[in-house]
Amino acid sequence: MKPLLEARALTKHYEQGRISVAAVEGISFSLRPGEVALIIGPSGSGKSTLLSMLGCILRPTSGAILLAGREISALSDRDLPRIRRRCFGFVFQSFHLFPFLTARENVETALRLRKVPAASRRRRSIDLLEDCGLEERMEFYPASLSGGEKQRVAIARALAGDPFILLADEPTASLDSANGELIFKMLRSFAKAKGKAVVMASHDPKARGFADSVYNLVDGRIAALDA
Ligand SMILES: Nc1ncnc2c1ncn2[C@@H]1O[C@H](COP(=O)(O)OP(=O)(O)OP(=O)(O)O)[C@@H](O)[C@H]1O
Ligand SMILES: [Mg+2]
Repeated sequence: MKPLLEARALTKHYEQGRISVAAVEGISFSLRPGEVALIIGPSGSGKSTLLSMLGCILRPTSGAILLAGREISALSDRDLPRIRRRCFGFVFQSFHLFPFLTARENVETALRLRKVPAASRRRRSIDLLEDCGLEERMEFYPASLSGGEKQRVAIARALAGDPFILLADEPTASLDSANGELIFKMLRSFAKAKGKAVVMASHDPKARGFADSVYNLVDGRIAALDA
């Protein structure tokens, strides 16, 4: 089966004054349709950097990213946002919710960007928030939500745009075990729909049970898995 997403010899070096941080050092892998890939590894090993590059939020220093066989890492700053919006959904490690929008409005932003009519936006946002167990929190602002609730709003928002690939950075870090499992199940069932896939970075020991492949990052490289 043709890969949905492919990384070829990706590197990212951050330049900080006179210091160059080699965050990602030559990573190649491919993601099949239907696959849930899990990235594990110690703090600072490059997981968030890799996810940001895969989703075209961050330009690689070198290497290539191919989406359905087409190189997207070489697209111009003008063309890239369209591909990013249409093809990728993100759950960021620090949520990035809009503070002056309610939970429902935060989810709706993803649909507004895709020009979904108002009534369908509202219906779909409510459905997704219900799926995430937030039926009682629709009209709350982020400041009044717990960390785990904010995380679930961020997940509902990422799913709302119906992306091809969902990139999730520590999607269960603020969740208790029951809600963590609910989210892993949602991500897995998302990936199993036609032409979709998930890449998630997670420290959660339960994540492996929901993944088809596991990549262990150490110092920006893929290392062998400990048994
Ligand atoms: N904007 C930046 N400028 C300079 N260095 C950075 C920047 N972002 C990340 N780094 C460095 O790159 C390395 C990889 O960071 P990254 O956030 O990808 O790690 P991570 O595996 O996601 O860690 P964690 O598990 O703590 O989230 C770290 O050493 C970090 O300090
Ligand atoms: Mg990280």
